[in-house]
Amino acid sequence: MVKIAPSMLSADFLHLGRDVEMVNRNADLFHLDIMDGVQVPNISYGFPVVEAIARKAELPLDAHLMIVHPEKYVERFAAAGAGMISFHVEAADDPAGVLRLIRSTGVEAGLAFNPDFPVDMLQPYLEECDFVVMMSVFAGFGGQKFIESTWERLPALKSEIMSRGLSCRIEVDGGVSPANARALAEAGADILVAGSAVFKSEDPAGTIRMMRG
Ligand code: DX5
Ligand code: ZN
Repeated sequence: MVKIAPSMLSADFLHLGRDVEMVNRNADLFHLDIMDGVQVPNISYGFPVVEAIARKAELPLDAHLMIVHPEKYVERFAAAGAGMISFHVEAADDPAGVLRLIRSTGVEAGLAFNPDFPVDMLQPYLEECDFVVMMSVFAGFGGQKFIESTWERLPALKSEIMSRGLSCRIEVDGGVSPANARALAEAGADILVAGSAVFKSEDPAGTIRMMRG
């Protein structure tokens, strides 16, 4: 069954403990968006918030690094409790080296890429990936509109992974809601990230249930 990873970027930071409990009870992962204002044109949050979430989280932390020089911070995110770390292929000089570094810390390694990155260019890295993060919006902000080309890109990448017998999972991130979740799972998504759809909903738990299909 598809896993649901609420993006804490859309949580209520004045009630973070309450929102962490809601995710613990209803979802599968905590998706943590780390933005540095350089790799993407926005700044989110850093270690104090990640460490606070880690103290209360009962599910794995999925850290999505939208930062330059991701290799500098891999060990620190691993120590902060991340069970999965992804970084942007556009941000690394040596993506395969960073993937190996992440795995060497005992954490699952993921490669994230924007909607304009050709999926064919992922081929050399897929064996080093435990998961990939297919962005269905341009990284940087929550609450953006889902980009429709994902409907071609997702099955293309899924069939590449399947035909090579790889175990790499596909996480889809951006503009995901109950309206498209089931179709995304059918098109090959293993993990769905959702920020605003979950946290801006009147009934976050019910929204997560609907997204499981
Ligand atoms: C965007 C982030 C997403 C974002 C998703 O750069 O990677 O994880 O928080 O937010 P929604 O679900 O609101 O598009
Ligand atoms: Zn994200």
